Amino acid sequence: MKKATWAEPYKIKMVEPLRNITRNEREKLVKLAGYNTFQLKAEDVYIDLLTDSGTGAMSDRQWAGLMMGDESYSGSRNFYRLEAAVHEYYGYKYVVPTHQGRGAEHLISRLLIRPGMYVPGNMYFTSTRLHQELAGGIFVDVIVDEAHDPDSGFPFKGNVDLQKLENLISKVGAANIAYLSLATTVNMAGGQPISLENLKQVRKLTQQHNILIIHDMARVAENAYMIQQLEPGYADKSIAAITKEICSLTDGAVMSGKKDALVNIGGLLAINDQGVYEEAKNLVIVYEGMHTYGGMAGRDMEAMAIGIAESVDEDHISFRVHQVHYLGNLLRDAGIPVVKPIGTHGVFINAAAFLPHIPQIKFPAQALTVALYEAGGIRSVERGIVSAGRNKETGDHHYPSLELVRLAIPRRVYTMSHLDVVADAVVDVFENRYRVPGLEMVFEPKYMRFFQARFEQVVCEPQSILE
Ligand code: F0G
Repeated sequence: MKKATWAEPYKIKMVEPLRNITRNEREKLVKLAGYNTFQLKAEDVYIDLLTDSGTGAMSDRQWAGLMMGDESYSGSRNFYRLEAAVHEYYGYKYVVPTHQGRGAEHLISRLLIRPGMYVPGNMYFTSTRLHQELAGGIFVDVIVDEAHDPDSGFPFKGNVDLQKLENLISKVGAANIAYLSLATTVNMAGGQPISLENLKQVRKLTQQHNILIIHDMARVAENAYMIQQLEPGYADKSIAAITKEICSLTDGAVMSGKKDALVNIGGLLAINDQGVYEEAKNLVIVYEGMHTYGGMAGRDMEAMAIGIAESVDEDHISFRVHQVHYLGNLLRDAGIPVVKPIGTHGVFINAAAFLPHIPQIKFPAQALTVALYEAGGIRSVERGIVSAGRNKETGDHHYPSLELVRLAIPRRVYTMSHLDVVADAVVDVFENRYRVPGLEMVFEPKYMRFFQARFEQVVCEPQSILE
């Protein structure tokens, strides 16, 4: 590892004080929050690893860009800057801004899915699958098996299993497939990349059957970085070139600007087909706003245009992933069961292995998020049975193979010392793991329940034996 790429490629101009309260206070507050970390007040959190979405620090250039906001209702200068950034860095033809990623998911799902159609994808994402289902679609997981195994060290766990995709095509017919929903990187698998070799094969297969690829590109630059590092033939290619090559193998994209693109709010839909664009351009007015702002302020579009350029900077992205891996390696070396390989936007703890005494139905990953908050004021997120929600047909829970807790690292926000403190808290909980109680869900909202569900603690063996 080269030292020069290892320290923060920026210096700090402004600071935001942190507050650390006592364990006793935290135990009371998390109970009040229904044992759901989404329901805590941010000021009661010491180190916030809930998400890397919209939580990044903007650069001085982006802040300067805010002052260049053109808040005209229609035809804002900043829209054209955003559109130009998409053309330059991603290469898609048409751009429709949205307030964030799920706004774009909503539009594309309504436009391309008819009730009863299938939507294959390299694992589901919560909001993406929900919009597909609300449009009447049926999501089918076609990711490689390795993605479902937290201990597999396969470097490209985001890859599509071509056989699974082919089987689906021959079973239901290409005409009944709305599109392939393809994420770079795959969040729910632990922040895992797809290889360009796999994407090229997927492209060939889908083109044979006239199936569109819609790219979920929230973290495409992180995926490009892993390709540069690991895929033969790409070591000398720039992140910008690899990013553009990924996009060139797809037909359109939904993008949350809150991840790679380094803004606190914003997103977009990009598409190469003029007919789909015309419809999206019309539909966006109904749900988001005029097609030249789509729910974003002019200044936010400016910040996103600048953020897109910054996201493919070699020093930025290299440090970003190194920092995540720094935490991952600390945990792995301390014997904590983490998903392998370490992802690019966060470290994912295998909660099923961490808390073997808590059965999946007693929500081990949710229970671990509670324990981490109580122990160190660390806020994390459940990515297991609670996030997976219920099967639309049977009404039963989905029982995902991965029962994970994600420690997502916001971009350019925390230092390595913060991550040392996080690692200490995780180790502390691990040493007392059998004392961590399970949970019962006492309130379950209809959509994306993990945001607002409430829980109560229940004793799980062998905790009762220890006491
Ligand atoms: N796709 C992926 C892969 C995501 O991770 C997210 C958001 C979205 C789409 C939706 O974008 O939030 O802007 O509407 N992920 C956040 C997270 C919420 O914490 O992983 P959005």
